[in-house]
Amino acid sequence: MSKVISNERIDEDFFLLKVEDQKLSKIGQFYMLRAWDSYPTLSRPISVYDSDDNSVSFLVKIVGEGTEILSELKKGDDIEITGPLGKGFPEDISGKIALVGGGVGIAPLFKSAKEYKNNPNNTVDVYLGFSGTPILEEEYKKICDNLIVNVGGFITDDIDTTKYDYILTCGPEIMMQVLYKKCKEEKTDDRLYVSMENRMACGFGACLVCTCKTNHGNKKVCKDGPVFLANEVWG
Ligand code: FES
Repeated sequence: MSKVISNERIDEDFFLLKVEDQKLSKIGQFYMLRAWDSYPTLSRPISVYDSDDNSVSFLVKIVGEGTEILSELKKGDDIEITGPLGKGFPEDISGKIALVGGGVGIAPLFKSAKEYKNNPNNTVDVYLGFSGTPILEEEYKKICDNLIVNVGGFITDDIDTTKYDYILTCGPEIMMQVLYKKCKEEKTDDRLYVSMENRMACGFGACLVCTCKTNHGNKKVCKDGPVFLANEVWG
């Protein structure tokens, strides 16, 4: 059991939950969270937004009963966190990197951008798409070279994929597929990584709920992913 350090409401839908934790997560990994006994049955898979030696933070969107309960936690409350889990974004890449996120899919891009920027040879551009009011713009601006925000349109329209050595994306599947199509057209699909958001139950490879088809057979998003090369999933 861990303790909540802080829980900050960002807007009507989003909150930033910071929890005590000494395990170091890698970029693009997630935890299973729960702060209830038996109902709702399942823990909630939530991506790591940021972490340090003593804490892990999650940017969470309220989408149902579980996330509603998490949104009401206060400093000092108990929370069960299991993780870090899964295989995240590639860590050893360098060059020009684009991170493209939509909705709550922007969450794992924060720590990722920060870590890629630790390598002075990297250029890191972050593209964020929102259907409503943008959130955390100032925070993202500080940790990348260029921040591009699209409100109400398609963030995929704003990127020239040929400018980048690597493109990493997380968000609604439709957004990621449009980006994949664009990359195919611009012959950059070989450098596109996608973070899949399939429904999960166990989070560690035991239940098969999160299975997705790839051209290397069926894979478990929670254990083999959530990050895959786009060509592996859609190619
Ligand atoms: Fe159970 Fe992935 S959530 S195998």
